[in-house]
Amino acid sequence: MEIKIFDNYNDLCVAVADEIIGLVRKKHDAILGLATGSTPVGVYRELVKDFQAGFTSYKNVTTFNLDEYVGLGSNWEKSYRSYMDNNLFNHIDINPDCIFIPNGYNANPDLECEAYEKKINRHQIDLQLLGIGSNGHIGFNEPGTAFDSVTHLVRLDKKTRSDNSRFFNSLDEVPLLAITMGIKNILKSKKIILMASGTGKQNAVFRMIQGPVDNSCPASFLREHSDTWVYLDKDAAGKLE
Ligand code: F6R
Repeated sequence: MEIKIFDNYNDLCVAVADEIIGLVRKKHDAILGLATGSTPVGVYRELVKDFQAGFTSYKNVTTFNLDEYVGLGSNWEKSYRSYMDNNLFNHIDINPDCIFIPNGYNANPDLECEAYEKKINRHQIDLQLLGIGSNGHIGFNEPGTAFDSVTHLVRLDKKTRSDNSRFFNSLDEVPLLAITMGIKNILKSKKIILMASGTGKQNAVFRMIQGPVDNSCPASFLREHSDTWVYLDKDAAGKLE
């Protein structure tokens, strides 16, 4: 696991975006694994800026997102699909047929997990982008998730629902369930970049890098992968020795 520390969130996002842009320019049909949440917003902003300046095309790129809520009801605009459209996909030239995100509206979420798992297994992700939950989750692989887990339906942790309630009108609106790629899917990616920003991530980052490798902090499993990079701002790195 390699670690890079940046002065601030902006520098962190520019550096992660440069990695993605570099890959897509070299490999036009790259397969990207993407994350949502607050942390990568600045990365997507940089990708859009670069695209609009005419530098990089996503015409042949394929994307797989990590996760999606189940049970959003009429709150469609809070879906991760909607987040991705607003922050990235609507602003670049990606082929809509090459965008994959679990469908949280499938009436049978278990079948949706099976279908998503089949799709992922037909590809190998070149670069997987990750954030980290304050409880150490990656994707929605909450503490307790098995190392060999594949795409599955998950009951969201109390901490995750409370952290994510900032995106909703109230805690009650935050879905109880989500579909997520498993740890095994994430670890199959050729390269992984996990990014974290802010003091709220200090404990999780410390635990991921310096704690034991076990499912009490799912992000610690990334230490079993040979090409994982952790990109942090100074605040997120604050507890590292
Ligand atoms: C999102 C995801 C989550 C987030 C994590 C951090 O697709 O998989 O693991 O990366 O919850 O979220 P933020 O960036 O909002 O702190």
